[in-house]
This record gives sequence, structure tokens and C-alpha cells, in this order.
Amino acid sequence: MIHAVRKVKEILNRPAQWDFSDAQTLYAGVDIGTYKTIAIVVDEKGEPRAAALRRAEVVRSGLILDYVGALNLVRELMEEIRRHCPKPIEKGATSYPPQTESGNIETTKYILEGAELDVLKILDEPSAANLVLGIKNGAIVDVGGGTTGIAVIKNGKVVRTSDEATGGVHLSLVLAGHLRVSLEEAEKIKTNRDMNNSVLPVVRPVIEKISGIVESSLKDFRGMKRVCMVGGTCELAGLAGIVGSNLGLEAFQPEAPQVITPLGIALSCLGGNGDNPVLGTSADG
Ligand SMILES: Nc1ncnc2c1ncn2[C@@H]1O[C@H](COP(=O)(O)OP(=O)(O)OP(=O)(O)O)[C@@H](O)[C@H]1O
Ligand SMILES: [Mg+2]
Repeated sequence: MIHAVRKVKEILNRPAQWDFSDAQTLYAGVDIGTYKTIAIVVDEKGEPRAAALRRAEVVRSGLILDYVGALNLVRELMEEIRRHCPKPIEKGATSYPPQTESGNIETTKYILEGAELDVLKILDEPSAANLVLGIKNGAIVDVGGGTTGIAVIKNGKVVRTSDEATGGVHLSLVLAGHLRVSLEEAEKIKTNRDMNNSVLPVVRPVIEKISGIVESSLKDFRGMKRVCMVGGTCELAGLAGIVGSNLGLEAFQPEAPQVITPLGIALSCLGGNGDNPVLGTSADG
């Protein structure tokens, strides 16, 4: 699975690296997030063939606020991929944050249909992430742009989920206030890996808050030893380690945490349920 994650990283927004040769059927996974919307196309074997990402604010706290904006965005991403692809891409999947109302889930489905995709699957985000991670017992913590989502997995199934409004934007807000710069500038500094060491102490209070959210979601699961940290905010080096030591848990961070959920969404089209041989891997905890 690490191969597929790396492949997505390599081909993301690089049409010259997209390769559709020998693919029989293509499936698109679409993740409409607070911070970014991403479409990943895989073939029938789960091999990533194309991936395109745009930053846009069409979602807030897990709800699609700008329907037309989201629709145009997904159409644009799919048009770009289809322009480079000699084969039709007709099937797709999408996901929703834990605790989402059914109306919002329907909206997400209409958006994919508006981009000419037959929706094969709509699944919750942690279940999508777990199609890549293959956790049997443990927790997935997804620190995205606006929220922190937590899912407890028992025997490979999601048994408890929560989603709280603290995420990367809160780190950027604290950083902007501290440095007296615009939010946009703070965002640039935060995502510059060379600056990670100086950013970390400033945003520590937000990391403590995230730890508190994770702790209260896991309070009924005392035996938990391991959490897997995904989502773009976990790209900040050191963040996962702080959350882990605050909680006395091992916090494992996979490579490219930002693409785990969207890749899982695409793979869900293959009918995987965590036991799919194509989807393989197991990271117990
Ligand atoms: N290299 C990086 N270092 C630190 N933070 C990063 C980095 N790359 C992205 N981020 C942050 O990750 C966040 C976006 O994460 P992600 O892409 O998982 O969000 P999303 O899925 O769009 O949002 P949500 O799941 O909350 O709807 C943003 O706040 C962004 O600043
Ligand atoms: Mg997300």
C-alpha cells in the first residue's frame, strides 16, 4: 500500500506523470475538504493513474457551503484528468466526515453526478482511510483543515466516530497572531518544512487542544495503544509525536498523511472492505 501512497505523491498535479496505458477500468475517488478538493484515479488493480488537487473553500466544518463552487471544482478536476485520458472515467466514490447529516451526503453525491460520475460508493472518511491503512484494532485521527476526526476501529470495523472543530486553520490563526502576519502568510510559513522547528512551539496550544479532543474520544477505549495520524495537518513534523506523548500512546504517522483518505475513497470503488487482497496491509494497534 505504501507504493500506492508514494505513487499518488509523485503524480499529484503532474499530468506528465499520468499514465493510463493498459488500464481496463478507471475509478475516481473525490474528497471535497475544507482546505482542498482532490480527485485520485485508480485502475481496476488499485494502481493510481492520475491525481489532481485544488485548494478552495467550499466546505466549512464538514458541510458543503458553496454547492456551485464545489460542483465547478470537481468538474474542473475531472475535466483536467479526462483531457489527458484516452479512456472514459465513469465511476467514482466520495466520502463524508463522521457525524454528517444525510442531506450533506446526498449533496456530495449530486456533485459527483454533476461531474459525470456514477457513484459506486459513499463512505465515511475514516473507513476510507482504513482501506489504505488496514488497521484491525486501533484509532485513526484525521487532522484536516477545519476539523479533527477520530475513529475507533475494532476488528477492522469503525465502531465509534467523532469530529470536532479544530484543525490546520487554527494553527495558522495562532501563528498569524503571534507573528502579526496575514493568515495567508502564516499558511506559507507553516507549510514550509524548513520552518517546522520554529512553528511548533508557537502552535503548541492548538496541538494540546487536538490532544484533548483525541483523549476525550478515546476515554472509553482504555486498551488502545496506537493511533494513526492522517490529514494534512499531520504533515507538520513533530505534531504526531506531541499528541502521542500527551496521550501516552504510540502515534504512528504514515507517509503522505494528506493523501491517505482520498486514496482510500478511490480504492473503495474496487469493493474493498479492509480484507481486499489488493488493499492488503495490516497495521494493528
Ligand atoms: N506541510 C504541511 N505542514 C503543515 N500543515 C500542512 C502541510 N500541508 C498541509 N497542511 C495543512 O493541512 C490542512 C489541510 O489538511 P487536509 O488536506 O487533510 O484537509 P481537508 O481534508 O481539506 O480538510 P477537512 O478534512 O478538515 O475537511 C491545512 O490546514 C494545511 O495548512
Ligand atoms: Mg479531510
